[in-house]
Amino acid sequence: MTGKPIVAIDGPAAAGKGTLARRLAAELGLPYLDTGLLYRAAGRRVLDTGGDPADPTVAEAAARSLLPSDLNRNDLRGPLADAAAASVASIPAVRAALLAFQRDFAERDGAVLDGRDIGTVIFPDAVAKLFVTASLTERARRRWQELRTAGMDAEIATVETDMRQRDAKDAARTAAPLRPAADAYRLDTSDLDAEAAFRSAIAFVRGRIGPR
Ligand code: CDP
Repeated sequence: MTGKPIVAIDGPAAAGKGTLARRLAAELGLPYLDTGLLYRAAGRRVLDTGGDPADPTVAEAAARSLLPSDLNRNDLRGPLADAAAASVASIPAVRAALLAFQRDFAERDGAVLDGRDIGTVIFPDAVAKLFVTASLTERARRRWQELRTAGMDAEIATVETDMRQRDAKDAARTAAPLRPAADAYRLDTSDLDAEAAFRSAIAFVRGRIGPR
């Protein structure tokens, strides 16, 4: 195919979407967007004002007032930011407010985007869709390692409990729940390192988009 390929990567927390998406984007010469940052930044804005991330009015206002610089904040990770992101993300008006940004991002040059609803809602016509998973134990181990590397204190059992709850919330919500698109390539990275995951994913994506 020619033109502007859109590669959609969805899946639960810490499944390896970000690492994979960044590498696919570099390989294919496409822009990359981590859409989780939009929800994280909106949640942070609500916390900044002392508001409740589950309050639809406050959360929608935060999503509508986002600036590109919000995505570079250094306080978008960690348990508080995770929970705030998942709360604002379950509010339909927040998702609606962030939809245009995601579509505009990919409009001109195509893109690789990772999130929860890229292949199902944001770009249902994406040329290549991947659903990346891994066991809860392995995902919790990876996130725990990331947090420690970033200098944050964390108990692996707490990370696993928080992650299980956030995944359940993402999958159970009525607005754009986490689920694989019917035509998504499912990639379980539990027993794959980043290199093996990349090789499997790029073979699938190249098969879909052809030579570029
Ligand atoms: O890095 P991690 O996989 O833990 O999370 P993330 O991708 O940064 O997403 C944080 C939260 O934002 C998720 O738990 C979802 O509630 C929400 N999210 C969403 O609803 N839709 C997206 N496209 C991306 C994230």
